[in-house]
Amino acid sequence: MHSDAVYQLLRHLTSPVVAITSERAGKRNGMIADSAVRASIVPTIPRISVYIHKFNYSHDMILETGRFVLHLLRTDQFALIHQLGFGSGRARDKLADVPHHLGTLGAPVLDQCYAHFECTVANVMDTGSSTCFLGDVMHVGYGAADRATGEVMTATYFRAKLPAEWRPEYEALLAAAQRYALERSRSIEPVIWRGLKG
Ligand SMILES: Cc1cc2nc3c(=O)[nH]c(=O)nc-3n(C[C@H](O)[C@H](O)[C@H](O)COP(=O)(O)O)c2cc1C
Repeated sequence: MHSDAVYQLLRHLTSPVVAITSERAGKRNGMIADSAVRASIVPTIPRISVYIHKFNYSHDMILETGRFVLHLLRTDQFALIHQLGFGSGRARDKLADVPHHLGTLGAPVLDQCYAHFECTVANVMDTGSSTCFLGDVMHVGYGAADRATGEVMTATYFRAKLPAEWRPEYEALLAAAQRYALERSRSIEPVIWRGLKG
């Protein structure tokens, strides 16, 4: 099968579009991902896994602090996806005008979302181009309303309803990420997560 057709089939396996926040030494950041899934069937041991590319600023922030907050978003949050997912936080403070507070783990919790999961890293796996983080869910909350409101932003909904003026930029960023991953995906390193340093 042609690789483009394979990729379209793989797209059925993407997750909802989520926002992932992190904090390191006072610097707060957020990014977007569509690679997060439930990673435990045990209600009392809730876990999430997510793949984060190494070129993202968030990658090193999460690897070095061992914590992140994953937010399910609502279908009306395209502007937040554009703000967090179309450019790096290395050069600017992407959360400066996004209402948030520090959660129980010290990482930013966005006030506007469908729900959020505060996680500590339980394990990691290298893919060459990205790291798969396994997170233990430590705290869970809804958005500001204290209950779920609206509908969850799925990857299918995102691709169907992405505002037309943002589509060329999105496709260019995706193509750049694919080129980065193509060069690195074959060199997988064994990584042992030993918990936080110090
Ligand atoms: C819809 C969408 C899905 C994305 N999914 C992922 C993903 O699963 N993993 C990833 O590493 N980056 C993903 N990205 C790209 C990052 O969000 C983007 O590179 C971001 O600018 C990283 O910010 P940072 O450098 O401040 O961490 C996605 C972006 C969008 C718009």
